[in-house]
Amino acid sequence: MELLELRELSTSFKTERGMVKAVEGLSFQVKGGECIALVGESGCGKSVTMQSVLRLYDEKKLVTYGGEIYYRNRDILGLPIQEMRKIRGGEIAMVFQDALSSLDPVFTVEDQITESIRLHQGLSSRAAREEAAEMLRFAGINEPYRRLAQYPFELSGGMRQRVMIAIALACKPALLIADEPTNSLDVTIQAQIMDLILNLNQKLNMAVILITHDLAIVAETCSRVLVMYLGQIVEEAPVRDLFAHPRHPYTLALLKSIPTITGERPDRLYSIKGSVPLLSQIPRGCRFAPRCPHAEGQCRKENPPLVPVTEIHKSRCWRTAIL
Ligand SMILES: Nc1ncnc2c1ncn2[C@@H]1O[C@H](COP(=O)(O)OP(=O)(O)O)[C@@H](O)[C@H]1O
Ligand SMILES: [Mg+2]
Repeated sequence: MELLELRELSTSFKTERGMVKAVEGLSFQVKGGECIALVGESGCGKSVTMQSVLRLYDEKKLVTYGGEIYYRNRDILGLPIQEMRKIRGGEIAMVFQDALSSLDPVFTVEDQITESIRLHQGLSSRAAREEAAEMLRFAGINEPYRRLAQYPFELSGGMRQRVMIAIALACKPALLIADEPTNSLDVTIQAQIMDLILNLNQKLNMAVILITHDLAIVAETCSRVLVMYLGQIVEEAPVRDLFAHPRHPYTLALLKSIPTITGERPDRLYSIKGSVPLLSQIPRGCRFAPRCPHAEGQCRKENPPLVPVTEIHKSRCWRTAIL
């Protein structure tokens, strides 16, 4: 059984200039215990997709959803908000990039972890404390009891992110969504946090959706990759196939922007001219055509569907055969 399944999800925001569709026709599946990556340049809709799964946006004022999202065969978009709260945290947890603003500065680490434990497991405060210390250990934190007594400002950036992960783990989620969890951290700490997430994926058999724009990280950690461009999936494949034989020109360009051994990293996407268009100016035809070196007539007329090119590999490109 699939743990999570999106069918033709679309998320539209109400803005001053009318509705803007940030994500369109998104379909993919995640199995229990699987680690998948969602990659793409900033602004392509990665966070919107995952925040939609958790229904974190104001549905009265801000968003309208289309399509379907299933979690263990339950229709998420149809659930009453109380039921949704049980799923958030209890079943699906999310770790964000910015741990400092996600933690509450006036509460200790213990307060913040036990809040979630007690909410979901109904433990006594003492048992919750033991559990909290255990979660900190799981998150690779030494001297957990000392850390429990501290406030967020007393912790380093890496330590705060570990605390966020401990909070996420406290409710024993079946799925962890990690939204660029290491972005604000320095490189060695990034590697440690990624190791930690991988380790938890394997030890706890917890499925992970890793959002990142760093393909180098993906190569080491995930089994399957979804590549997004301008609100749509343009390629989906097992990691090895994606790296060995990318089937979409956008993925090709992303792969070329992986840092070299010397650590050099082009800060703009190698070989891609132009920049990501605005959502209000989505090109006719293939969304990537204006930046694509292979674009020809049909590409500018009709947006290609995401179709299988092999049994395990999908691409949204009219010219995939020439790549
Ligand atoms: N609250 C919002 N209102 C209007 N547009 C939004 C809102 N949140 C995100 N968007 C738009 O949705 C698109 C995708 O954003 P996002 O998912 O955050 O990108 P990323 O892939 O970097 O996570 C962007 O164009 C962004 O401007
Ligand atoms: Mg984002």
